[in-house]
Amino acid sequence: MLVRATVEAPVDTPADTVAVGIFEGKRIPHDVDGGALQALLDAGEAKPAFKHLAVTHAAGKRWILVGLGDRDAFTAERARVAAAAVHARSKEIGTAVLCWELPHRLGDDEAGGFVEGTVLASYRFTAFKTDDAARTAPTLTELIVSDHESRVVAVDRAAVLARAQNATRELQDRPANDLTPMALGEFALTLADAHEHVTASVEGRAEIVARGMGAFAAVAQGTDVEPALITLRYEPPEARGPLVALVGKAVTHDTGGLSIKPAGSMHRMKFDMSGGGAVLGAVQAIAQLALPVRILAVVGSTENTINGSAMKPGDIVTAMNGLTVEVDNTDAEGRLVLADCLTHARALGAERLVDIATLTGGVVTALGSTYAGVFANDEEWFGAVDAAGARSGERLWRLPLDPEYADRVKGRYADLTNSPEDKKAHPISGAEFLHRFAGDTPWAHLDIAGVGWDLGKPWAAKGGSGFGVRLLVALAQAQAGA
Ligand code: BES
Ligand code: MN
Ligand code: ZN
Repeated sequence: MLVRATVEAPVDTPADTVAVGIFEGKRIPHDVDGGALQALLDAGEAKPAFKHLAVTHAAGKRWILVGLGDRDAFTAERARVAAAAVHARSKEIGTAVLCWELPHRLGDDEAGGFVEGTVLASYRFTAFKTDDAARTAPTLTELIVSDHESRVVAVDRAAVLARAQNATRELQDRPANDLTPMALGEFALTLADAHEHVTASVEGRAEIVARGMGAFAAVAQGTDVEPALITLRYEPPEARGPLVALVGKAVTHDTGGLSIKPAGSMHRMKFDMSGGGAVLGAVQAIAQLALPVRILAVVGSTENTINGSAMKPGDIVTAMNGLTVEVDNTDAEGRLVLADCLTHARALGAERLVDIATLTGGVVTALGSTYAGVFANDEEWFGAVDAAGARSGERLWRLPLDPEYADRVKGRYADLTNSPEDKKAHPISGAEFLHRFAGDTPWAHLDIAGVGWDLGKPWAAKGGSGFGVRLLVALAQAQAGA
């Protein structure tokens, strides 16, 4: 879908369908055919109630009037939701070129929300559908965003973000027998090829072992499928600010290993690479936006499954930083992978760390699909990450770190255990485990297990959500002082 901004009036654009938002207590700003749209509102067929839709024909075009609710309650997220509702209706009526007439005096992020909602809602995963009907190209080919003032920057930024988010969703939706760790590595190499200031390296089992990443390697020893340590750098010449490391968990399938998961929901564990997928999508967008920042991305990717040499509960492994870890539950594998990825990022000079992972079922219970959990060892860095969450609409709820929780991940036979015997506060145990590898580098840990897929939002109802892409880009943008 092409996306562009214009200062032309919607009637003068080549659009066949125009979307107009209506706030409570407001009139139609620019009417056509001598008041056709206001008449629809006066008749009660169109309503300002949030998400209410009405369709009419006037001035040779189709018009979709959508309620935007109370102006004061309006947010970029509401823009995404309204745009997704309009997208669904425009699809039903076969729209090819859609023009969104923006309400007056929006903020740039609210304006961008209309673009994001449309592009995100248009995402479909059809790679494995063989029937033509499912595979046919979508009818919507262009989105034009009309406003009195130029919205080129906001509209382009939003399109870049939403496309990167959709790229992450596609990685998430691909099954584990297709999206192997090395296939994820291919994505990173392609990204580096496409962007001048991005470099990528993909290392396999031998290098992971050679680097002394004993925790990561222990997870990977349970599969014959090659694991991948994916390292990217984005450093344009004008880059400024600290070296920010984005560290992602990319377990392409998590069976639980010998501490095996129940069968009923195991198929969803193809999504256990969501954190790593978000990191790659974010790097794509950061490079496309040419943000003047220094980014290091580390994605640890492997399956967690059971061949004859799989790690066993009780095994003791040595992580890259020298700490020994008792693997008391092979299903607490994400922290083993991330532990060594955090050490690797620090060894490469990371000055700020943010890791993103589908780490625990406990965070799903606690926060559902509304907030991701966040932990941090540094107030200033927490503030930056939290602000990025608020700006992007990918909201975070802080959970505590505390020496009393940290005590719980001390091992009986080794320095640490990857899983205390009882599951009390287990999202916090996971965070305290990672804390030991982040050390005193400013670090934030995002547990996205509840927000990674099946959001139930109109712009992403089922499947991968791409959560984290917009947040990480907003974080990078703030580091650039933009
Ligand atoms: N990938 C899972 C976490 C998960 C669970 C994500 C449900 C999304 C939905 C992770 O590797 C895991 O299995 N965590 C365990 C940790 C426990 C053994 C300490 C969990 O949450 O049960
Ligand atoms: Mn697990
Ligand atoms: Zn997992």
